[in-house]
Amino acid sequence: MTMIIFSAVVGYLLGSISFSYIIAKKVKKVDIRQHGSGNAGATNTLRVLGTGPAILVLLCDALKGIIAVLIGLYLAGEGLAPALAGLMAIVGHNWPVFLKFKGGKGVATTIGVLATLVFLPALYAGIIAIVSIVITRFVSLGSLLFLIGTTLLTIVFRDYFIYPIEYVYLLLIVTALSFWRHRSNISRLLSGTENKVGKKVK
Ligand code: G3P
Repeated sequence: MTMIIFSAVVGYLLGSISFSYIIAKKVKKVDIRQHGSGNAGATNTLRVLGTGPAILVLLCDALKGIIAVLIGLYLAGEGLAPALAGLMAIVGHNWPVFLKFKGGKGVATTIGVLATLVFLPALYAGIIAIVSIVITRFVSLGSLLFLIGTTLLTIVFRDYFIYPIEYVYLLLIVTALSFWRHRSNISRLLSGTENKVGKKVK
C-alpha cells in the first residue's frame, strides 16, 4: 500500500510540471494560460509559439505520464499502482500544485500513460485520432476520439491482451475527465466555432 500511495504522489508532482508554461515563459516570456485558448498544453503552444515548441511540449508532457506509470510498475507491478500513478500525473497536469491548480486538459500526458499501459489499443486509436485531425483540423475532436477509441479497444480485447481490470477503470475515469475538461471545446464543436489547428494567434 505504501508503494501505491508513494507512486501516486510522485505521479501527481511529475504531472504538475507544466512544460507549456515553462517553455512559453522561456521562449516568449508569456503565461500560456493568458493566450490562445488559454489552455496549458501542446495544441495551444502550437498556436502561440509554433511547431518546434509544441512538439517539445507534447513529448515532455507525454514523458511525465510515461515516467509516472513506470515508477508505479517498478515499485508495485501491474495493476493499481501504475494505473493510479498515471491518473495522478494527468490530474497533476490539469490541476498543477505549482501553478495554483490552473493547468491543461491532460491529452499529451494521457497519451504517455495509455501508450505505456495499453500500447496496442492506444496505437490504433492514435491512428484514428491523427487521421481525424488531418481531415478536420480539430485537435480537440481527435483527442476525444483517442480516448473513446482506446477505451473501447481495451475493453473489447481485454481478455486477449490480459489487461488488469484497473486499466479499464482508469480508462473510464480518464475519458470522463477528458470530456469534462473539453466541455468548452465540445460546445464550440457543436456550434461550429471550434479553433482549427494551424491558425496562429497572439
Ligand atoms: O490538448 C488539448 C486539445 O485537445 C485542445 O486544446 O487549446 O484547442 O483547447 P485547445
